[in-house]
Order: sequence, then C-alpha cells, then structure tokens
Amino acid sequence: MDKIHHKYLLPNYIPTILFTSIYIIIFFQHLCVPVAGASPHVYTPTETIFLYCGSSGNITSQDGTRTWIGDIKSEYVQSQNNASTPAKASTQPSGGGDKTPYMWARLSRSQFSYTFRLTPGQKFIRLYFYDTSYQNLDRSKAFFSVTAGNFTLLRNFSTSHAADDSHTIFKEFCVNVQENQNLNITFSPSQEYNDSYAFINGIEIVSMPPGLYNTTVTGETEVPFLGQAPGVQFSLSNSNALEMVYRVNVGGNYISAGDDTSMYRTWSDDVSYLTEAYPSALPVNLSFQPTFSMIHNYSAPVEVYQTARTMGTNTTVNEKYWLTWEFPVDSAFTYLVRLHFCEFQPEITVIGSRVFEINIANQTAEKHADVIGWGGGSGVPVYMDYAVMMGSKANQKKQNLSIALHPAPAYMTNYPDAILNGVEIFKVDSSGSLAGPNPDPQTTPTTVAPPTSGNNRSNNRKIIIAVVVCVIQ
Ligand SMILES: *[C@@H]1O[C@H](CO)[C@@H](O)[C@H](O)[C@H]1NC(C)=O
Ligand SMILES: *[C@@H]1O[C@H](CO)[C@@H](O)[C@H](O)[C@H]1NC(C)=O
Ligand SMILES: *[C@@H]1O[C@H](CO)[C@@H](O)[C@H](O)[C@H]1NC(C)=O
Ligand SMILES: *[C@@H]1O[C@H](CO)[C@@H](O)[C@H](O)[C@H]1NC(C)=O
Ligand SMILES: *[C@@H]1O[C@H](CO)[C@@H](O)[C@H](O)[C@H]1NC(C)=O
Ligand SMILES: *[C@@H]1O[C@H](CO)[C@@H](O)[C@H](O)[C@H]1NC(C)=O
Ligand SMILES: *[C@@H]1O[C@H](CO)[C@@H](O)[C@H](O)[C@H]1NC(C)=O
Ligand SMILES: *[C@@H]1O[C@H](CO)[C@@H](O)[C@H](O)[C@H]1NC(C)=O
Ligand SMILES: *[C@@H]1O[C@H](CO)[C@@H](O)[C@H](O)[C@H]1NC(C)=O
Ligand SMILES: *[C@@H]1O[C@H](CO)[C@@H](O)[C@H](O)[C@H]1NC(C)=O
Ligand SMILES: *[C@@H]1O[C@H](CO)[C@@H](O)[C@H](O)[C@H]1NC(C)=O
Ligand SMILES: *[C@@H]1O[C@H](CO)[C@@H](O)[C@H](O)[C@H]1NC(C)=O
Repeated sequence: MDKIHHKYLLPNYIPTILFTSIYIIIFFQHLCVPVAGASPHVYTPTETIFLYCGSSGNITSQDGTRTWIGDIKSEYVQSQNNASTPAKASTQPSGGGDKTPYMWARLSRSQFSYTFRLTPGQKFIRLYFYDTSYQNLDRSKAFFSVTAGNFTLLRNFSTSHAADDSHTIFKEFCVNVQENQNLNITFSPSQEYNDSYAFINGIEIVSMPPGLYNTTVTGETEVPFLGQAPGVQFSLSNSNALEMVYRVNVGGNYISAGDDTSMYRTWSDDVSYLTEAYPSALPVNLSFQPTFSMIHNYSAPVEVYQTARTMGTNTTVNEKYWLTWEFPVDSAFTYLVRLHFCEFQPEITVIGSRVFEINIANQTAEKHADVIGWGGGSGVPVYMDYAVMMGSKANQKKQNLSIALHPAPAYMTNYPDAILNGVEIFKVDSSGSLAGPNPDPQTTPTTVAPPTSGNNRSNNRKIIIAVVVCVIQ
C-alpha cells in the first residue's frame, strides 16, 4: 500500500504546488504543531466501558483519554460458563503505537460470554485482538465466532488471517440495545476444528447519539439505494447492525480516538485508497470554523471539515479524469456510504460555484452535487448517505467499492472541479450476520486498524516536507 501511495502521490503533489502552495504551507505548519485535543468534546456518551480482558489491573491508554479496567472479578464476566482463563501475551505489538489493551487476553477452548447491563439505544462495540501466542497455544488454531445479542459479528474468524503487520486487529460495530435487555457478547471456538480456541484482549462499548447513522440529515431513515430501480430507497432501522469498514479524513491526517468528538472513533488518511488522483489538490484552512447549521457538531471532528481533496486547478485536466478512491469490501453485503462535505475555499461561495457528479460502485449517486446548495451557504458541513449492494461475483471474496468524482458539464459549474472531505463506509447485516470470509493470505485487511500514529504522521510529513522544500527553491 505504501508503495502505491508514494508512486501515485509524490510526483502529483509537485505540479499542484503553484496553485496550492499557500494551503500546503498551512498544512505543513499544522503538522509541525500537533493539534492533539483540539476537537471540542461535544457529545457526552451515557456509557463508556473499556474492558481490559484477562487483566487484574487497570491501564491508561498512551494519550491518557481512556482507562481500561481489568475484567478479573468484573461484574461483566459470566461465572456460570465454562472456565475461561486470563493469559499474558508472549510478545507486544511492534511499532510506536498505543500498546493498550494488548498485554493480556481472556481465552478459552469453549464458549464464554460477557453480559453488559446497558441503557437502551445504539452502541458502538469495539473489539480489540492481538494476534500472538498465549499460553504456548498455536496462534493459527484460534478460529472462533463472536455474537452480540442476536447478531453474529464474526464467524470462523482467525486473527492470523485478519491481522495487519502490527498483528493487531480492531473491529467496530453498531448494535441497538433494547429496553430491559442485557447485551451478551459471546465468544465460541469454531466446532469444525478440534483444538480451536477463542480469545479477546479488549472490549469497548460507547453509547451513540440517537440516529447518528440510522437517520439522514433530513431526518429520514431511508437512503437512496443505488443500482436499483429509480426511486428505490434502502431503509435502515434499529433492527440492523452495522460494521464500520472504513472511516477516512479525506485530504487530511489520521485522527486518533482521543481526538474524535467523544465517541472514540478513529479516522485514517485517504492516501492508501486513492487510485486516480492526477493531479489532486489539498485545500486546508485550520483557522476556518465550520457553521453546524445542517448537522450535529459531533458528526465528525472539525478537522474533517477543515481539510479536503479537490481535483486540481487545471480545468482541462479535471474534465478528463475521475478523482477515484477504491475500498476493498466483502462481496454479498449492502453497504451504507456516508460522504462528508464542506466548502471553505474563498472562491467557492455561491450555488453553482463547484458542481460535480458522484459515482459510487459504478452507479450514479449524484448528477449535480452542489455542497453550497445542500448546506445553504459556504462553510456549512453536510453529509449525504447512500446504500449500495455489492453482489456476489464469480467467487470473489472481495470487490472494490469505488467512489469517483467528476466535474459537471462546464455550463453548470463555475469551477470544473469536485471536493470530498470525509468518507464512512459501513457493512449492513444480512439476516443478522456481519461475518465475511477470512481474507486470502497477503491481501489487504478490510479493517482500518488504528495505525501507529507515529508512522502515519511521519509518512505525511515526508511528503509535505518534500513539497515545501520545492517551494523554497
Ligand atoms: C480499576 O478501576 C476500577 C474502576 O475505576 C476500580 O474499581 C478498581 O479498583 C481499579 N483496580 C485497580 C487494581 O486499581
Ligand atoms: C461448556 O463446554 C462444553 C464442552 O466444551 C459445552 O458442551 C458446553 O456447551 C459449555 N457450556 C457453556 C455454558 O458454554
Ligand atoms: C432476538 O431474538 C428474539 C427471539 O428470536 C426476539 O424476541 C428479540 O426481540 C430479538 N432481539 C433483538 C434485539 O432483535
Ligand atoms: C445472556 O446470558 C445469560 C447467561 O448466559 C442469560 O441468562 C441471558 O438470558 C442472556 N441474555 C440475552 C439477552 O440473551
Ligand atoms: C478430531 O480429533 C479426533 C480424535 O482425536 C479425530 O478422529 C478427528 O479426525 C479430528 N478431526 C479433525 C477435523 O481434525
Ligand atoms: C434511529 O435511532 C434512534 C435512536 O436509537 C431511534 O430513536 C430511532 O427510532 C431509529 N430509527 C429507526 C428507523 O430505527
Ligand atoms: C481561513 O479561514 C479564515 C477564517 O474563516 C479566513 O479569515 C481566512 O481568509 C481563510 N484563509 C484562506 C487562505 O482561505
Ligand atoms: C455543539 O452543539 C450543541 C447543541 O447543538 C451546543 O450546545 C454546543 O455548545 C456545541 N459545541 C460546540 C463546541 O460548538
Ligand atoms: C493544463 O494541462 C494541459 C495538459 O496537461 C496543459 O497543456 C495546459 O498547459 C495546462 N494548463 C495550465 C493553465 O496549466
Ligand atoms: C466498476 O467498473 C470497473 C471498470 O469497468 C470494474 O473493474 C469493476 O469491477 C466495476 N465494479 C463493480 C462493483 O461493478
Ligand atoms: C482494488 O483496487 C486496487 C487498486 O486499483 C487493486 O490493486 C486491487 O486488486 C483491487 N481489488 C479487487 C478485489 O478488485
Ligand atoms: C474458515 O477459515 C479458513 C481459513 O480462511 C478456511 O480455510 C475455512 O474453509 C473456513 N471454514 C468455514 C466453515 O468457513
């Protein structure tokens, strides 16, 4: 991935310097002065549970925003079940990232559960796994299912298949809890293997604001279902569970859990997903304060709306290409795609300034996207939701879900250009299951593991420094 990213991007930044140098210099300054904690904490979750499985002690995350509580003697562990045992990891994740909560795990060769007493409503459930050997068990024998209430979150799940280079895996789900119902999260070793076992390092539960992902900006719960007959809507309700597969701060930096709007979501940068970006530009204005008149101010961190990717300033070039991102996803599921937008460039002020076409998975999502029109003015963040089915395709476990932008015909737009600030992609459960097949060896994992933020920042810094040096020369 990194190789692709350098191949595509490093040369492409250089032609854009002339036009965007001012933005890039501001961007550079932003990287030099870390903005940790800059996002105001604008939402207060009813419940925040950070459970450190298998540990008797507590541990605070590196950035100090979360204290993981050891689960030994915890009220959540089911005592009537078969014994599950705490186990210490034999190694620690490589890289400079946060090592919590990976030192300990709870492990068993038979089923075990946690029961959480929660208020009713939508919850984020985040599961943290560290793929290493515990108690001298063979790590390749860990095959298991995870259910939460009625939903199957993972099935025949293998951490050694799913882990990235740091051997850590992080999965985020959204599940609704009904009134007077406990939420049971159950880990069951796969029965088709004789000596399989299940384990978990950390469970995080955070209450979601009502309607965060099941209700659109207009208050409706139905979103356009692309690729179906015209007018067909996809209705998303509380009886659906979601799995977050990508959450991206387009044109900006990685945003850590502690810098989110108190929901502990992480946002990756978009560079690994760009496939056609010649010669895109990165507008950024960190002194710009968005006006949240259309959406809640906790929808995404302010940084998402202060940075963007556009097509560039050469209109001849813009008219000839589609600015494209590709996201590998499991086949045979419907996906909810949320696109975040905000116009903050001084040239883009009125309806018709920048009008563009949006295709998602090769289907037309918008013929005439006009962010100023949607927001009722410049500087107003908006998001748009779409649903798209990625059918089964000739035994392909994964397919690319593409997002592609292209200027509207010249007579409709002052600037033949397009803009995107953020993307969230969720898998929607199919008959109560979110489980996909294990990835083939050597393919990219679907999950956006929280990257070691150190690495991520230094990658960006390398690119930006190269650009700034050119400007000075
Ligand atoms: C861990 O934190 C919990 C909740 O704050 C507290 O009850 C418990 O005593 C702490 N455990 C240790 C070992 O400090
Ligand atoms: C305990 O383990 C046995 C055998 O592994 C299994 O049949 C049984 O369902 C388990 N009990 C519970 C409560 O998980
Ligand atoms: C789970 O299934 C049971 C019975 O099948 C049903 O009564 C219950 O409402 C379901 N719960 C949820 C959260 O869908
Ligand atoms: C959760 O598990 C406990 C113990 O296994 C069981 O008594 C309870 O009915 C379960 N609750 C739900 C909602 O499945
Ligand atoms: C499981 O173990 C039994 C007895 O040791 C053996 O007969 C059987 O072939 C094994 N099954 C698999 C799938 O390895
Ligand atoms: C969306 O979620 C909110 C909060 O959980 C709930 O009040 C509302 O009924 C949900 N909408 C649908 C269509 O399920
Ligand atoms: C950045 O935003 C601030 C506040 O809205 C504005 O005054 C300034 O002109 C903007 N800078 C650029 C380069 O657009
Ligand atoms: C976010 O919006 C809420 C009300 O919608 C308001 O009370 C709060 O002050 C806002 N926070 C910030 C940081 O703008
Ligand atoms: C735009 O790109 C075309 C093709 O690469 C080039 O011929 C033209 O000079 C460029 N225009 C400007 C204003 O840079
Ligand atoms: C979209 O189009 C491209 C190029 O024609 C093709 O490779 C890809 O499979 C298509 N994707 C879907 C989801 O149909
Ligand atoms: C997705 O797109 C990337 C970049 O074009 C390509 O390398 C990869 O093979 C594609 N994956 C699938 C499943 O088509
Ligand atoms: C479980 O995953 C392994 C590894 O990907 C695969 O070989 C096997 O066929 C899967 N089993 C089932 C029942 O899906």
